[in-house]
Amino acid sequence: MEYTFLKIEQHDQIAVMKVSAPKSLNALNSTVLKEIDDFVSNLDTKQTRVLIITGDGEKAFVAGADISEMVHLYEKEGYEFSKLGAIAFRKIETLPIPVIAAVNGFCLGGGCELAMACDFRYASSKAKFGQPEVGLGITPGFSGTYRLAKLVGQGYAKEMIYTGKAIRADEALRIGLVNAVYEPEELMDKVMETAQKMVANAPLAIAYAKQCINESYDLIADDAIELENTAFGKCFATEDQKEGMTAFLEKRPAKFVGK
Ligand code: CAA
Repeated sequence: MEYTFLKIEQHDQIAVMKVSAPKSLNALNSTVLKEIDDFVSNLDTKQTRVLIITGDGEKAFVAGADISEMVHLYEKEGYEFSKLGAIAFRKIETLPIPVIAAVNGFCLGGGCELAMACDFRYASSKAKFGQPEVGLGITPGFSGTYRLAKLVGQGYAKEMIYTGKAIRADEALRIGLVNAVYEPEELMDKVMETAQKMVANAPLAIAYAKQCINESYDLIADDAIELENTAFGKCFATEDQKEGMTAFLEKRPAKFVGK
């Protein structure tokens, strides 16, 4: 599929997906959401070991869902628009590879929700985060009420959502919405550096660890622990476990093949 609103770059085993809608600060209309869904659904996660999501240009990651499209919607279409984003973002969250958001500017509404569907976020010092939806007469619609509360706790999530206020990158760092803040010109290098470290590790082990962390959140302790026991056991059925441990004992770097 040819994309109108996505720019895709491949750097060996690292893919970069840039949302690119320059006239609207990369706002998410339904075509962008369908393109994201298509890209993520068809991503070859054997070839691509890490996905980085960012915004095109210097000003915005994504400034939210497209208000000029939403202004015309009624209840049924509003529900369907919300579903479209939610399904695409859930696919990002459950990809069997790490997904890092490189938040390079405005990260508002649906943009913040896109960033939160990633495994973690690094931000430029110029980034601004917020869920301004109630100021437009709507709730967050791409799973922001769920993921923001999960990430920063209900207190901060409710404060951000009820006030609609935008917070700076240093505040986002303080409340745990982002893992690190860098100067704008350093951001991509730092994200790439982290991605490279992940590429060097065993991909199936990362996929199992991601699944355990994602799924255990909604489980009771005994089920979450059992999930990890099972994943740990499955690692011992992989070539990468033999290679990783043999390489350690032979004092050489491991070469993982993802089997
Ligand atoms: N939807 C549609 N167009 C948008 C947009 C959005 N979310 N955000 C920005 N734009 C457009 C502006 O309308 C403007 O277009 P024109 O040049 O044609 O006038 C262009 O992008 C540049 O924006 P500004 O001139 O406003 O730039 P600024 O620097 O003065 O302000 C901003 C930047 C603070 C991000 C401001 O654009 C803004 O507040 N944007 C809207 C943010 C927002 O409310 N996001 C949440 C949307 S609702 C949502 O996301 C629902 C959901 O959860 C699914």
